[in-house]
Amino acid sequence: MAKKIAVLGNGYVGLLAAVGLADFGNTCIGADVNPDKIAALSAGRSPLYEPGIEEYLNRNLSSGRLRFTTDLAEAIQESEVLFITVGTPSLEDGGADLTFVGQVADIIARNLNSYKVVVIKSTVPVGTNRWVRDRIAQAAGAVPGKDFDLVSNPEFLREGRAVQDFFHPDRTVIGYESDRAREVMFEVYRALNVRSVPFVWCSLETAELIKYASNTFLATKIAFINEMANLAEAVGADIHTIAQSMGMDGRISPKFLHPGPGFGGSCFPKDTRALEAAGRQFGVNMSIAKAVDASNEAQKQRTGLKLARLLGRTLDPGSLGGLQIGVLGLAFKQETDDIRESPALVLVRQLLDAGAQVRAYDPKAAPNFAREFPEVTYYEGAYEAAAGADALVIMTEWNEFRGLDLARLARAMKGRVLVDGRNLLDPAEARAVGFTYEGVGRGQPVGRGTVQGSSPL
Ligand code: UGA
Repeated sequence: MAKKIAVLGNGYVGLLAAVGLADFGNTCIGADVNPDKIAALSAGRSPLYEPGIEEYLNRNLSSGRLRFTTDLAEAIQESEVLFITVGTPSLEDGGADLTFVGQVADIIARNLNSYKVVVIKSTVPVGTNRWVRDRIAQAAGAVPGKDFDLVSNPEFLREGRAVQDFFHPDRTVIGYESDRAREVMFEVYRALNVRSVPFVWCSLETAELIKYASNTFLATKIAFINEMANLAEAVGADIHTIAQSMGMDGRISPKFLHPGPGFGGSCFPKDTRALEAAGRQFGVNMSIAKAVDASNEAQKQRTGLKLARLLGRTLDPGSLGGLQIGVLGLAFKQETDDIRESPALVLVRQLLDAGAQVRAYDPKAAPNFAREFPEVTYYEGAYEAAAGADALVIMTEWNEFRGLDLARLARAMKGRVLVDGRNLLDPAEARAVGFTYEGVGRGQPVGRGTVQGSSPL
């Protein structure tokens, strides 16, 4: 039977959960303390850019299964299942800030008017589910397993593909403690059960660690291939042929082996640091997580250094004075307006500190970027940003950059330096129209490696 659900916190994860769970046939109330957000969502407008989200938002608003409110207490009292989807930002020491999680737990404790399953979907450090359970039990004088249950249900959505990921997950992980809670969660996700998506039923701590292990492992793959790309550059090898060949080994898989300017976003950097912090807390040396974080920070510095080298300059203060640098792509990845921990933030800071003028274009993320960097000039298209530039850098893997007319780009620019931070362009074509081109790990001087019997990565 469909469930009555409250989704507490309507940021990225919360919005997707509210919309998706309503689409599964449940009745959902999205609750958030921010009145502007709630007004926008109630009117069918998403405060963040995510392909397809508004269509699902409006469809479920019209069906009557989804509504939004600023009244968390009412949403809690009316619901049997409470999803906690508030933010858990990084603390100075890499740990996660649980202030919002604690606040929501206290509101739940004050409004526990019937048996409820409290589901933590926010990414939280190991032990947090138990901590929240005990906090609610103590504050409400309630008994876990009888008056309420705690469930850990980490999410694996990728920004830009979140709608698709929500409805077609690789797996659904549910940490639980009582059969009653398990039955409730089975109903919440009945639509996925019917489609036979794999379900992982496990303990609270196992569910918590699955999330950190998955994200840190993927981050490790990227950091590894980035370092391999740097080495390929140095020895004159082609990283794509290397990555493709590695990926042919089923144990490795070709996914997440694309080199670039470093990973960003609200998840990989934060979760890698949080895993390391968990190791410190429990006396276990998580040296790989630590190395991945350091490696990624170094990778984020490399694009600017490469650009300065190609221009025959350095990144010392004033060294890029009088130069105009075009930057294509500001978001941390394609199909999002999110700039959190974006490598473009590091590059633009380097360029401005070295005295350059920055001309930027991003299909979605410019308004967010402009809040951090008002001194950058923003343009409506790639060719406009490139006009008169001494050099151009591609930072985000937006599809539209793959199809750039390189001859037109060259004509628009003043200089001919092109740094392709995502390897989106054909090096031979770029060089043929006069560019001094460098990608990432494309050191092989003559053409590209070919691997027969398979499509290129
Ligand atoms: C990531 C995970 O992929 C999701 O499974 C997880 O649910 C999510 O974090 C989360 O914890 O909420 P996301 O951060 O949205 O999703 O984006 P990814 O597609 O994983 O990309 C992360 C970063 O790695 C981006 O900066 C991207 O450009 C970079 N990347 C990715 C590479 O540089 N190379 C690759 O091969 C893949």
